Amino acid sequence: MSEPIRFYFRGAVHEVPGAEPTQTVLQHLREDLHCTGTKEGCAEGDCGACTVVVGTLVDGQVELKAVNSCIQLTPTMDGKALFTVEDLQQPDGTLHPVQQALVECHGSQCGFCTPGFAMSLWGMYLKTETAPARKEIDDCLSGNLCRCTGYRPIIDAAQRMTELPRVPFDTAALAQQLQALKRDRLSVHGQTFFAPRTLEELAQLRAEYPAATLLAGGTDVGLWITKQMRTLTGIIYLGHVDALKTVAVDDGMLEIGAGVTLEAAYTELCKHYPDELAEMRQRFASLPVRNAGTLGGNVANGSPIGDSMPWLIALGAQVVLLGAAGERTLALEDFYLDYMKKDLRPDEFVRAVRVPLPRPGVVFRTYKLAKRFDQDISAVCAAFAFTLDGGVVRQARIAFGGMAGTPKRAGAAEALLTGRAWDESAMQAAMAALAQDYAPLSDMRASSEYRMRTAQNLLKRFWLETRAAAPLSAKEVNAFA
Ligand SMILES: Cc1cc2nc3c(=O)[nH]c(=O)nc-3n(C[C@H](O)[C@H](O)[C@H](O)COP(=O)(O)OP(=O)(O)OC[C@H]3O[C@@H](n4cnc5c(N)ncnc54)[C@H](O)[C@@H]3O)c2cc1C
Ligand code: FES
Ligand code: FES
Repeated sequence: MSEPIRFYFRGAVHEVPGAEPTQTVLQHLREDLHCTGTKEGCAEGDCGACTVVVGTLVDGQVELKAVNSCIQLTPTMDGKALFTVEDLQQPDGTLHPVQQALVECHGSQCGFCTPGFAMSLWGMYLKTETAPARKEIDDCLSGNLCRCTGYRPIIDAAQRMTELPRVPFDTAALAQQLQALKRDRLSVHGQTFFAPRTLEELAQLRAEYPAATLLAGGTDVGLWITKQMRTLTGIIYLGHVDALKTVAVDDGMLEIGAGVTLEAAYTELCKHYPDELAEMRQRFASLPVRNAGTLGGNVANGSPIGDSMPWLIALGAQVVLLGAAGERTLALEDFYLDYMKKDLRPDEFVRAVRVPLPRPGVVFRTYKLAKRFDQDISAVCAAFAFTLDGGVVRQARIAFGGMAGTPKRAGAAEALLTGRAWDESAMQAAMAALAQDYAPLSDMRASSEYRMRTAQNLLKRFWLETRAAAPLSAKEVNAFA
């Protein structure tokens, strides 16, 4: 049975009968509804011109988050609320403080990027009543590119908007609207798009349609559609399965449901590893991508240049898989068999990722090298988790991204270090051993030589930061570099 998609839009319930499973929200806005305020720049989540704010009901509360409409699919809007730049102006025509601040601070020239900036800023406006800190602004705008104005006036507008008379937003009323839109499992368009609500329904659909694509935040899958023009024969959307969105501490492990967004997952992880993971969180894509994408999607996609896998593997994380034969748990490094090949049966899906909590004696760091600070994929991503005891390495776990066809541990370097004093000669020997562990490729991101040299230097950096004799702080190492 095919049902119309229903979502809250422009103050009313909006119905889309027979929505194409792979139509993007941006296409629906511009081509069907002729709401052309939302722009298309890159169609791959990079430029932010298409930024909209989506409201979702989570435990009875509304969460409002900026996302990239160019890589979100229309059927995933079911039961949610969609806001675009046209929603900002007040009914009497007065500009919203976000817009007024952009005008006053000269934050727009050609204007192509402006609706996207306005929506990212509105996402922040909804969360803060006081002038946001510069760091918060930078993070909020990390997914928006402007080719003509330059960023200073836009940053000024981000500070100015909270000084203008406040425009309240009624989240309680929206929660009621979304509550009324809630429904059971959705299937649309000739059984080619399913949105189950429970783990049982998901497992049943997975077994019934093993060739269907699992869709979580769509920040990888969206690009298969918009850039690779792939035809997906069926889609099973995970975004309504609440059981995949839980976070719990259990037996010394932080268990993060596969459907927890990257932003929520890294927020939780940074409570336990505040110094170690703060930079990775900030440099992972952009806020709109992290608002949509999930940790489970990052792990399940298993790109050799993905950013979570090296540090998850170094820490000894596990992946929990659920399928027709029940649940099984694997060490994450065993999940990756070959380039984009995983130990995942056709009837299985990732239910959760289990991350060890900090343990006494374990020092842990992860480093990302990319051409840009924000919104860039790693050329090399390194992670080290060593158990040190009186300056001796009891256990060394080293994992790299960008150095092989999968995220991969450095077995030779690890073996060489185990039982050795963590001194300069051990560090140098391990640097040399990395050449046995990896034979990286040259591609558009980096040459093979660059990758090997920087991987070795990141090991040296880790040593400088963690050696027993006068370790350097990360800041000092940066100055030294
Ligand atoms: C602009 C941009 C910047 C990016 N920057 C980074 C970056 O800095 N670092 C980085 O690592 N990645 C980056 N990515 C990639 C992407 O954001 C991540 O890989 C993200 O975690 C994918 O999660 P998702 O929920 O969007 O997955 P989806 O796109 O929904 O799915 C990805 C894959 O995982 C599968 N899948 C999803 N959930 C499950 C599950 N529970 N069980 C089994 N299979 C599942 C899907 O079938 C698909 O094969 C970027 C992407 C974009 C568009
Ligand atoms: S159009 Fe560039 S991020 Fe969507
Ligand atoms: S104002 Fe022209 S791209 Fe930003």
